Amino acid sequence: MSGPYNETVRDHFENPRHQWRMDQPTVVADAHNPVCGDRVRLFLRLEGDTIKEASFQAQGCPASIAASSMTTCILEGKSLTEARALTNEDVERALGGLPPGKGHCSVLAEDAIHQALRVLPGEAGPRAPKA
Ligand code: FES
Repeated sequence: MSGPYNETVRDHFENPRHQWRMDQPTVVADAHNPVCGDRVRLFLRLEGDTIKEASFQAQGCPASIAASSMTTCILEGKSLTEARALTNEDVERALGGLPPGKGHCSVLAEDAIHQALRVLPGEAGPRAPKA
């Protein structure tokens, strides 16, 4: 794949990390972009307060696949508090940026994280909206 994507994005799209259906995850969450129809399913396995394993399945554009892949890389080893603070801007930065007009594609992964965290026991519900 060539085109508007940088090398990191291309690598995560062509060789997605952790793209598999997890058996017996602690939590599964789905995110969907109603405009383009792209979907991401995120699987997390926790030990205590730590995300030991993260994986995903996706039907989407190259940017959303790359963002999901990078998200799972970032999440592994993070505490729930750290995961809760993760934003799509963090994912985009880790990817070295997305082309103009593709920033919304990284929001799917962020949505999936926050859907997952919302259903975990002890979590205080949705994050406050961004200012
Ligand atoms: S075009 Fe739908 S998430 Fe990228």
